Amino acid sequence: MTTDYRMLEEQVAATITGESDVLAISANFVSVLASELPDTNWCGLYIVRNDELVLGPFVGKPACTRIALGRGVCGTAAARGETLRVDNVHEFSGHIACDTASESEIVIPLRASQRVFAVLDVDSPSKSRFTEVDQSGLESICRRYVARLSELRDNLIEFI
Ligand code: SME
Repeated sequence: MTTDYRMLEEQVAATITGESDVLAISANFVSVLASELPDTNWCGLYIVRNDELVLGPFVGKPACTRIALGRGVCGTAAARGETLRVDNVHEFSGHIACDTASESEIVIPLRASQRVFAVLDVDSPSKSRFTEVDQSGLESICRRYVARLSELRDNLIEFI
């Protein structure tokens, strides 16, 4: 399952530079990824608010609205400040099942001034869907998205 991440990043860049409203940008950001990443069933943002993650723009089935920092794949990635690639979510202790179809997952923390302010979560119905190539491609795309948000907001904590 290969994705041309250079092309996808250009597509994302075109989507997020033509608008200045962070909610509109963020909604289209996850929609472009959900549309272009094959074999995925959920793609969205969780925003850091106080000590928890709160559901933001997403594409997929309804999901849990709040996740404590340190809980689940999302909360763990946010607390550690590092990308988590989970090949089999059933083997991840504390995994939170929002869509029972999900088998593997990647969560990428978004940070500004050393602080994690949100995470991007992408789920797949296939085990081991996300490779190192997906990770580096998505991390680069996330940096682009964060750079655009930084042009629009002085402080990205609770940016939506
Ligand atoms: N599986 C995530 C919860 C969010 S849903 O996948 C959309 C987790 O364990 O944190």
